[in-house]
Amino acid sequence: MADPQTFLRYAQSDMWRRLRAEHPVFWNAPRDGRSGFWALTRYDDIMHVYRESSTFLSDRGNVLATLLHGGDSAGGKMLAVTEGSRHRELRKVFLKAFSPRTMSTVAEKVQENAENLVRRAVEMGICDFAEDVAEKLPMRTICDLLGVPESDQGELLILTKKALSVEGDHTTEFDSILARNEILVYFSSLLEEFRKNPREGVIGTFADAQASGSAALSDEEIILNCYGLIIGGDETSRLAMISSVLALVEHPAQWAALSSGSIGSQTATEEILRWATPAMHIGRTALTDTNVSGHPINQGDVVTLWNVSANRDEAVFASPDVLNLSRSPNRHLTFGYGPHFCLGAELGRIEMRAMLDALCRFAAGITLTGTPKRVCSNFLSGISSLPVKFTPR
Ligand code: HEM
Repeated sequence: MADPQTFLRYAQSDMWRRLRAEHPVFWNAPRDGRSGFWALTRYDDIMHVYRESSTFLSDRGNVLATLLHGGDSAGGKMLAVTEGSRHRELRKVFLKAFSPRTMSTVAEKVQENAENLVRRAVEMGICDFAEDVAEKLPMRTICDLLGVPESDQGELLILTKKALSVEGDHTTEFDSILARNEILVYFSSLLEEFRKNPREGVIGTFADAQASGSAALSDEEIILNCYGLIIGGDETSRLAMISSVLALVEHPAQWAALSSGSIGSQTATEEILRWATPAMHIGRTALTDTNVSGHPINQGDVVTLWNVSANRDEAVFASPDVLNLSRSPNRHLTFGYGPHFCLGAELGRIEMRAMLDALCRFAAGITLTGTPKRVCSNFLSGISSLPVKFTPR
């Protein structure tokens, strides 16, 4: 399960169904020099670990990529990989930056951007939805939220794509490391600029918190957390949007119900988030010896929670492998659960809804014009290229 190819090679629904039925708490043995780890696939077991948040920690890393390679160097500094009282302090600063007032301003802009991007794509007729629409929206949103000037956003997008390169593209590991460093250097200079010319934006909220001493944020923490927002919010939202278009193409009756207004975009967004689950797993490390459903877990063991499987668990969701845009209730785990519940969940939902509303407004029909290209990763699930043809409404 550590091998990205596994997720391309096997029919995922079958794989998860079998694991849930036969090995719900599965020990993925050490292989090719990589350590072993637990893989949990049932909703209830995953919820148990999320709830036992003082036993299962994130500060060594929260994804396999770091957990199997010596831990996350941002542990204790970047929100997602910080625990305990420091996590609560940092999260408080973030919540200020993501206040309802800021969110409503951002939502207006997201809606405007989504409408412009989708209208243009529909006018073009044929486009790559991944490149021409989905790639542009989340990054622009996070940059606006952070306070990154528009003139810098194109370059930052290129760097982010290199930094987060997934297996199979043409970026080398060295290019990725270089890009990550360039992003950190960029945020360091942006922080300096914010200090000289204070203005609105998350980076300004961080700088204020530092100046007032409320969370004693170091420069390194500010820079890493700006980077963390890009890492956390760009690719996940982008993949969710692309998956939603593919889901609509593959389920014409659902698209008809959505575009005619008989299903609302809010309910549809939740189902597409369940269906797509862009962040397939989340990782934790056991602080002490413990157990999950009677399986002994040793102190220091890596435990992975496969939200992608929990979201298809037949014990929680009726007909889980059916896309039902009017599904309600929909207690999916796409944004995680507990103290680390996704800070950008509302923003992710706003982006998805804006994009679905714009599709319904401008497109009468959507068809595939080529083969979608799937992302090769053990963490991210989705499509990196989606050639489609729109017929205008
Ligand atoms: C569809 C889009 C998104 C998905 C699927 C997603 C998924 C997740 C998940 C599963 C977690 C929990 C991590 C854990 O428990 O270790 C998380 C945390 C987080 N997400 Fe998201 N996310 C999305 C959008 C966003 C956006 C738009 C932002 C910000 C602009 C964002 C920022 C964060 C941050 C900062 C955390 C860490 C929270 C903490 O540790 O307290 N995410 N996200």
